[in-house]
Amino acid sequence: MQENLLLTPGPTPIPGRVNQRMAGGMIGHRSGAFKKLMESVQGRIKPLFGTDQNVAVLSSSGTSSLETAMVNLVKDSEDIVIISSGAFGERFKSIAKTYPFNVHVFEVPWGEAADVESFKSFLNGIENVKVVFSQACETSTAVVHPLQALGDIVKDYHSSTLFVVDGVSIVGGMKFDMQSSKIDALITGSQKALMLPPGLAFVAMNDAARLKAKENPLSRFYLDINKYFDALEDGSTPFTPAVSLIQGLDEVLEMFEAEGYEKVYARHVLMRDMLRAGLKALDLELLVEDQYASPTVTAFKSSTEELSTIKTSLENNYNITIAGGQKHLKGKILRIGHMGYMFPNDMLTVLAALEHIITKSRGKNYNGKALSAAQEVYYNEL
Ligand SMILES: Cc1ncc(COP(=O)(O)O)c(C=O)c1O
Repeated sequence: MQENLLLTPGPTPIPGRVNQRMAGGMIGHRSGAFKKLMESVQGRIKPLFGTDQNVAVLSSSGTSSLETAMVNLVKDSEDIVIISSGAFGERFKSIAKTYPFNVHVFEVPWGEAADVESFKSFLNGIENVKVVFSQACETSTAVVHPLQALGDIVKDYHSSTLFVVDGVSIVGGMKFDMQSSKIDALITGSQKALMLPPGLAFVAMNDAARLKAKENPLSRFYLDINKYFDALEDGSTPFTPAVSLIQGLDEVLEMFEAEGYEKVYARHVLMRDMLRAGLKALDLELLVEDQYASPTVTAFKSSTEELSTIKTSLENNYNITIAGGQKHLKGKILRIGHMGYMFPNDMLTVLAALEHIITKSRGKNYNGKALSAAQEVYYNEL
């Protein structure tokens, strides 16, 4: 039986050596062995966030990192801005509405990136905004926002306004530098470009964010980030962590080091470019302009009927899983994940299957078209 090729934007395939490491046996979370493990993880995870500070590790899904950023960095009645361009911008909105914050939403049409000039006027039209929240990659639309420009606008607005970035579907697949992009908090989850099962959430904060979290009297318990940073001083966690996942994380970080961080990011860009070239050759319309296309996920459009044929046939005849659209993009797009333990050859595999499916469904011969377009991109890089 051919193994399933999981090309979804999370969860993603787990490398065999990571699975083996996770099965290597439990250790006590208050033991010297765990402290050593956490120190090893902390020593190597920082480059992924582009920070020189410790990165807090929570045992919960990615959404908990979004909520953690909100409940620690926003005080009662403060004004915040959420850049919302898809399902995960909506997630930020839903979380914010649970708390006593004054929420202003900068709505971006789904499939587009935040327009820098419009965002600037929106922000400048509101007084006293304390925190701005944005996705780095809006997974539901496969868009990457211009973070550098957004960070500059936030800090020009007020140097103390914090910029919080949800990197759940892209940390590990694209280079981050919190300081140069003026990001005060960067958060992610384990099940995407970090090649791990779901269950860990990560929160990186700079000094300004840490200070605000320390002074914030808003009620919170499990998500009080101060507890996590305090415990990290001693290589520990405040509550029983998902030890096996952290063991797996240590292995993942070893793999990042062995491949080279820059090479990992370049592999993601290559997969994106191959896939986009191949999809275009199949006359499938891409949802996102080249400039804002994510290196970790790609969305394409077609008729609801053709999308359904593609998804079902990939699953049933080729054992390849891709993802559908979310919310109002359901039935309008399909998304192919290319993050974490995925490789250029996987792009060739899915494109070969797509050629065959589309040739059959349209009665027009596409065989070889997507592959040669993608191979041209690939072999130019070798
Ligand atoms: C950008 C983004 N933010 C937040 C989340 C939520 O993460 P989780 O489903 O792990 O709670 C996801 C999950 O797909 C995501 O892609």
